[in-house]
Amino acid sequence: MKKPQLSTLNHQYTQKANTLIPYEIYLKYSTQKDTSTIQLQKILSRFKNNQNRILDVGSGDGSYLLQSLPEENNFEITFLEPAKDLFKTLKTNIQQYSNCKAINETFEDFHAENKNKFDIILASHLYHFPEDEYSIFLSQLISLLEDSGTLIWIERGIDEVTDFKKRFKSMLVPSRYPEDWKPRSYNKALGILKEQSGNTELILNESELRFPYEENFDEVIALVEFYLNIDWISIPIDIQNEILEYIEDKGGVLKEEEGVIIFKKEL
Ligand SMILES: C[S@@+](CC[C@H](N)C(=O)[O-])C[C@H]1O[C@@H](n2cnc3c(N)ncnc32)[C@H](O)[C@@H]1O
Repeated sequence: MKKPQLSTLNHQYTQKANTLIPYEIYLKYSTQKDTSTIQLQKILSRFKNNQNRILDVGSGDGSYLLQSLPEENNFEITFLEPAKDLFKTLKTNIQQYSNCKAINETFEDFHAENKNKFDIILASHLYHFPEDEYSIFLSQLISLLEDSGTLIWIERGIDEVTDFKKRFKSMLVPSRYPEDWKPRSYNKALGILKEQSGNTELILNESELRFPYEENFDEVIALVEFYLNIDWISIPIDIQNEILEYIEDKGGVLKEEEGVIIFKKEL
């Protein structure tokens, strides 16, 4: 009997499928980033006339914030990204902008030594730290805000992708994902931020992830591996079939939700 293996190198099908990394395959078939960019641009437009200092924590290659900037703005942006390769691309992406700088550090190191405050902090899809450290992380982010500064916290919601992950991860690796395991969502951060002194607003972004059954089955598998973090070939055949049936029953499309929490600090 095969034993499901958590993916370490991740997604052997991606090599075969093409040269895209799993996240890029996800971006290709999900409308999430497009929806999110439009929403973030609307939110940032509220601030565009002010001389605001923005910190983008875990910015990746910077493209999410760069594409979300309102056309006319007076922002001064600091991108924080610890991953070497992403940082290299980030530096290239911002080289033409005099109002942008990039720091190649973890948030933890930056927080320990930084003396500056920011008007806006963007913390979008940061999944590197454990959930039991949310309170500490959120307080550290808030401590870097100016007195009436704004934290924009973006995290996955409770959607069909969550249901898919929960169902099959609990089935395949119950020791790690027991029945009462809850995939991450914006709810935890929302609860903590509501207890802080400030004003909290929640916006939900709806999008869709389409599985490319017709065009590219290898990429369907890469998407499944991306979400389950389990090697496809290690999954017993009957469960592989159940996974594919689940997706087919949904017409090959899973609905996605993203929560945008806008926390305005008040003393
Ligand atoms: C899922 S990506 C999100 C990228 C971008 N914020 C977005 O929403 O498109 C998470 C990012 O956090 C970065 N990251 C990982 N550990 C970090 C840390 N300790 N401090 C700051 N950023 C970190 C990763 O390198 C990655 O670029």
